[in-house]
Formats: sequence, structure tokens, C-alpha cells
Amino acid sequence: MKRVALLTPMLAFGLAQAQDLPEGKGKELLQMICADCHGLDVITSQRATKDGWASIVDSMVSRGASGTKEQLDTLVDYLAKNFGPEKKVESQKK
Ligand code: HEC
Repeated sequence: MKRVALLTPMLAFGLAQAQDLPEGKGKELLQMICADCHGLDVITSQRATKDGWASIVDSMVSRGASGTKEQLDTLVDYLAKNFGPEKKVESQKK
């Protein structure tokens, strides 16, 4: 029993990287542009408005993330749509 309890969160963590991303135009961009420096879980655990995402993406660009303006715009839209503040996440109520 104890072992199972330990393994489950580790498994969930590993899978979250690849499979929890909602489909959409920005999905590949996210994997391409944003996965270089940290896991995508850093991003998918975050919730923000469109403005919020725009400034997060901006600050990532200043850290070294690169993409065309068009790619970054698509990405911000994707993030705001899928990880916006109005989206309820049952397991992560704050
Ligand atoms: C060049 C490296 C790099 C790339 C590429 C990058 N990031 Fe980051 N990101 C970081 C670093 C470093 C941190 C930790 C910053 C800190 O601790 O303040 C971070 C932290 C974050 C956080 C957590 C922010 C917080 O305030 O805790 C989010 C969300 C995030 N990144 C989103 C993104 C997104 C979206 C992209 C793609 C556009 C991206 N990152 C691409 C370096 C990068």
C-alpha cells in the first residue's frame, strides 16, 4: 500500500509533461519554445489572464525564450484560453 501511494504521484508527474496539454494551435509551440529551461508543469500549474500570460511570456523572452511575434501571440492566446483564471481546476482550489 505504501509503495503504491508513493508511486502514483511520481507517475502522474511524469505523464503530465506530455499528455496533459490541451489540443490547440499553441500546443506544439509550447513544447517547442517553452520546454527548454523548465518542465511544462511549471507552466500548466499556473493560471493567468491574457495580460498575465503576455507578461509571463515577455519575461521568458527576456530570459532567452525565442519565437516570432506571431508564434508568441499564438502561444499567449493558447495559454489564456486553456490556463485562464476562470477555468476551474477542481484539485487545485485556492
Ligand atoms: C531561456 C529559459 C526559459 C525559457 C525558454 C522559458 N522559461 Fe519560463 N522560466 C525560466 C526560469 C529561469 C524560470 C524561473 C524564474 C524564477 O524563478 O523567477 C521560469 C519560470 C516560469 C514560470 C513560473 C513563473 C513564476 O512566476 O513562478 C512560468 C509560468 C513560465 N516560466 C512560463 C514559460 C513559458 C510560457 C515559456 C514559453 C514562452 C517559458 N517559460 C520559456 C526560464 C525559461
